[in-house]
Amino acid sequence: MAHAIKRYGSGTMRIGLIGSGNMARALAVGWARPLTCSALELEQAQALAALVGGTALATNAEVAASSDHVILCHKPKQLEEVALEIADQTEVVLSILAGVTLPELRAAYPTARVYRMMPNLAAEIAQSTIGIVDDDAGDRELFEQLVGLLGELGDVIAVEESDFGVLTGISGVGPAYVALIAQTQVAAAVAEGIDEQTAKLLVGSSLKGSSALLVSRANDSEQICREVATPGGVTEKGLAVLAGPLREGFRAAMDAVLGRRQ
Ligand SMILES: NC(=O)c1ccc[n+]([C@@H]2O[C@H](COP(=O)([O-])OP(=O)(O)OC[C@H]3O[C@@H](n4cnc5c(N)ncnc54)[C@H](OP(=O)(O)O)[C@@H]3O)[C@@H](O)[C@H]2O)c1
Repeated sequence: MAHAIKRYGSGTMRIGLIGSGNMARALAVGWARPLTCSALELEQAQALAALVGGTALATNAEVAASSDHVILCHKPKQLEEVALEIADQTEVVLSILAGVTLPELRAAYPTARVYRMMPNLAAEIAQSTIGIVDDDAGDRELFEQLVGLLGELGDVIAVEESDFGVLTGISGVGPAYVALIAQTQVAAAVAEGIDEQTAKLLVGSSLKGSSALLVSRANDSEQICREVATPGGVTEKGLAVLAGPLREGFRAAMDAVLGRRQ
């Protein structure tokens, strides 16, 4: 039966997390507010609840019944089984399930308001990029409340659903790609005889400052490359080696994320 959606300021929304794994933890730590959570193994939900001063509940249905907004933080393949447990008592659903489309979510939650979003692990430090499918035709007021709530975790960027795969391939996976770049830079430094701890400090500090510089320069990466790469200098030599393989690698990685290769 249709019923009115309750209205809350983002500070009073009761949030329920279905799943208490890596991404649920990042969201919960970033919000730093009491919430409810569940997991297949209750101990995992209890560990997350203890971390943020929340409440672990034994079943998904209890989480849904005690929340205003339910956030699906389980694996994509568990969509149907979880929906069977909670769809009839869920008014507002936010999904972070990679690759699960809005039509699929709406089919699983036919009576709820359903939103698709994609955060990343930097939610843990409130510096996530959070893509959300714009709710053109839907409930504008509720959408704006949710954008406010997600804005506590970082930059919220509304995109068309057709762009969601690319967004996932950039920002959803982003922390892992940066971590991989860091690993490979550390390995190259250690191979030159620097101790690992110093190498990690150098790489982490350099990535932090370089990312902040890029953002402060309105993301003008071309200009930064020009300013660092003095003609005939060492940066130019390094960039000449890296540019081709990086372009090819990121192109192929995007194909893989978009499901074009196994
Ligand atoms: N990791 C990321 O950086 C990232 C970024 C963006 C989006 N996502 C999306 O976030 C979702 C979770 O990813 P993750 O990396 O956090 O995975 P994860 O660490 O494996 O966590 C999955 C959680 O779901 C729980 N779960 C499994 N079956 C369940 C059920 N039937 N009912 C309730 N909870 C259940 C698991 O509990 P047990 O451990 O007890 O089985 C676990 O707590 C995925 O859909 C993924 O696409 C992840």
